Amino acid sequence: MFRYSLILLGLIVPLVHCYSSGAPPGACHNLMPGHGYEPQQVQSPVTLSAPATVPRGSTIKLTLKGDSGNNFLGFIVRAYEDNLGSSGHFEGILDSQTLTCDSPDDSATHFSNSIKDQVEIHWTAPNYYYTTNVTFKSTVVINYSTIFLNQPINVQVLYDPSLP
Ligand SMILES: *[C@@H]1O[C@H](CO)[C@@H](O)[C@H](O)[C@H]1NC(C)=O
Ligand SMILES: *[C@@H]1O[C@H](CO)[C@@H](O)[C@H](O)[C@H]1NC(C)=O
Repeated sequence: MFRYSLILLGLIVPLVHCYSSGAPPGACHNLMPGHGYEPQQVQSPVTLSAPATVPRGSTIKLTLKGDSGNNFLGFIVRAYEDNLGSSGHFEGILDSQTLTCDSPDDSATHFSNSIKDQVEIHWTAPNYYYTTNVTFKSTVVINYSTIFLNQPINVQVLYDPSLP
């Protein structure tokens, strides 16, 4: 019965424009939603931005924003550290909810497939006793067939001995 439900779900999902309640777990691997379309080869019209540095253990705001009036429906953001598949953790707020890829809340995705021009994402840095670099990779879904892999961005997590 469960198996049949999954097959049925697989048939229904391609009919909608974008996963209505966030990226599926299958998107963790290549950050593609599995719509059956290749990513666009030109620069994404939606930019991910973040502060250059963050004190260890602190929370920063990342912003996904459509350039010159471009809107989007869905997204996934993952934080990587060196050869680790995750770093720190995301917080679910407003238009963004967390997703578990390799470890709990190590990714963020849309909460609904409403039309958005900007989304705020909160991420808390790991609390290490050294400075490290974290790379954020992201994908945006403009519509069902138009998907962009964004340029990765880096954030340096600073060791600050004065912090607990
Ligand atoms: C982090 O990246 C910056 C800029 O690419 C580099 O200058 C710095 O050495 C890196 N730090 C670490 C700890 O890898
Ligand atoms: C999807 O977006 C692209 C780029 O904006 C546009 O050219 C295309 O017509 C759109 N497709 C649909 C089905 O809305």
